[in-house]
Amino acid sequence: MAATFSFGVDYYPEQWPEERWALDARLMAEAGINTVRLAEFGWAKMEPDPGLFNFGWLDRAIEILAAQNIQIVLGTPTASAPPWLYQRHPDAFRVLESGDRQTYGHRRYNCPNHPAYREYSMRITTRMAEHFAQHPAVIGWQIDNEFAQGDRCCCPICTKRFQDWLKKRYHNLKNLNECWGTAFWSHGYSEWSQIPAPLKTAGSPNPGLMLDYLRFSSDSYVDFQREQVKILRKRCPSHLITHNMMGFGFNQLDNFQMARDLDFVSWDCYLHTQWDVDRQVHPHDIALSHAAMRGLKQKNFWVIEQQVGLSGWEIVGKMVRPGQTRLWAYQSIAHGADGILFFRWRSARFGTEQYWHGILNHHGQTGRFYAEIQQMGRELQSLAAEVSGSSVPSQVAIIQCYDSRFAFQIQANHKDFTYTGHINQIYQAFHAQNIAVDVISPHVDLSKYQLVIAPALHVLPAAVAERLESYVASGGVLVITPRSGVKDEANAIVDLPLPGLLARLCGVEILEYIPLYDQVSQVLSLEPGAPDLLPLVANLWCEVLQPTTAQVVTRYSEDYFKGQAAITMNRYQNGRVITVGTFGQPDLYTALLPWLCELASVQPILKAPTGVEVTLRQKNQTDYLFLLNHTAQDQTVMLDAAYTDLITEEHNIKQQISLDPYGVAVLRKK
Ligand code: GAL
Repeated sequence: MAATFSFGVDYYPEQWPEERWALDARLMAEAGINTVRLAEFGWAKMEPDPGLFNFGWLDRAIEILAAQNIQIVLGTPTASAPPWLYQRHPDAFRVLESGDRQTYGHRRYNCPNHPAYREYSMRITTRMAEHFAQHPAVIGWQIDNEFAQGDRCCCPICTKRFQDWLKKRYHNLKNLNECWGTAFWSHGYSEWSQIPAPLKTAGSPNPGLMLDYLRFSSDSYVDFQREQVKILRKRCPSHLITHNMMGFGFNQLDNFQMARDLDFVSWDCYLHTQWDVDRQVHPHDIALSHAAMRGLKQKNFWVIEQQVGLSGWEIVGKMVRPGQTRLWAYQSIAHGADGILFFRWRSARFGTEQYWHGILNHHGQTGRFYAEIQQMGRELQSLAAEVSGSSVPSQVAIIQCYDSRFAFQIQANHKDFTYTGHINQIYQAFHAQNIAVDVISPHVDLSKYQLVIAPALHVLPAAVAERLESYVASGGVLVITPRSGVKDEANAIVDLPLPGLLARLCGVEILEYIPLYDQVSQVLSLEPGAPDLLPLVANLWCEVLQPTTAQVVTRYSEDYFKGQAAITMNRYQNGRVITVGTFGQPDLYTALLPWLCELASVQPILKAPTGVEVTLRQKNQTDYLFLLNHTAQDQTVMLDAAYTDLITEEHNIKQQISLDPYGVAVLRKK
């Protein structure tokens, strides 16, 4: 039976002398750790030669951990196949988008479709599943490790699989040629085998081909994962199955599809790493990833790799101040994590990740990170039972559409535009006000949301347009932003006035669109009688809106399109649609937010000083508030009712509560 809340570590016993394992397990137990992930990089040790299996070391490690009441999540080890596999099958190395074939030395360099790689992968998965199915300490599996890393494979095997994938989608070449518009530049295909994988050497391929390749590539991993899931479900029916995703920022996979076959989603949460030294990762960036991961299955998730300390490979990433590790872990719980595993137990002495620090330093002794995690382990003893089974309620949703996301990777439209950046800016405005937001697929039920934002819904199937229409018809408030309704599912531009299938719902037609480069930005003028919004600034992109049934809210104030509508509102049956004609900057959404929230009757969870994040989890009508102080100063938060602090166990806290620098409070409403 799994613990109510999984609090644990990622542990690599194979990297340490066996005599040390018992001490590690004892220290883990003393820190309150109840879950350990093992073996996701242990293939060469489990199968040192093809077909020769050795699980003895893993059995012994599990016994030692289980003796401390620690439960085990096993990783299938397919993200790093042993050298013998590549020696036998050099064509199992991925062909990068540059056309170069990868060589040995790192990890995740396999082609996901290579038949021998897949056969060996399924064999090791089967053997592990059979070996560990009955072990009482094993509760679940992580499939592979972070599928999204690196380039998409463009090898001849993938090319052939792509052609087969296209046959299923388009049935015949006439249809494919029409959908992709291959009349352009004489690309008409007369045989499936002529269709290439889009290597960089090909220049800018047909957007239809490109979008399909991105979908195909994502599907290859979905399919690979599904094959492993089937093996595990058959042999270990009571075990949980997850995969460690990489948060919101990673582009390669349609995570909604990836999540489908899993029992729950996990993700790897890092914010001060070697790759973040030149930028600030803000609490809202991490919160957005949590929301996106929660949105994949619309349920709670795990952070199966939670950053502990300094993190880097070649260089050492930004400092982690006392309290921050605990704060970040609480932030994960605050957004719906039901499991936190810290990466990693002990800093590695060898290998690429020597500077990716764990709870214990290289020398293996305990220090401040251990103390912090032990503190959290103690706190969770009572907190876990209270909070487990609760979920994160939200009145607001942002739609994330992978087809659109992929389409913008192919054609960004503006040199400074990214789809993920655009969503981030919108999310940021809500996060600053402590308003919970779900990040959801365009294909789910919208009726439970009071406010839905559909940013840059570029590739728009008719079914999604209809879903939005019925959401608004029955009283919803919908926000549409630029470049929506532009493309059909084959990534061709629709032959309708923009925003295409959304024009009637928005009550506008777009007369023209204007990218801003030298002009940088322009202030929008408010229409008389419009809501009193802060100065609104257009940036990056201006769509000139021609209302058909919509009312004008703001107009452009400069250049040849001065006086034309920039933001409109349309009443559509019982609901309203706000069309925002510019991408703006984060401030645009900050300015629009009070008005949007008023229209949709959305309230913040609690007002708090800047830098203090507040989230809500709910269970059986009980509210649990998480107050997270991301600043280095003491902070005071004014309360709206009487609460019990579940960490200090202080009752009847009214009026206000103080938070230490990087401090946390978990409050139950009484
Ligand atoms: C993660 C990965 C881990 C480890 C960690 C630190 O992305 O899943 O295996 O590599 O980063 O680099």
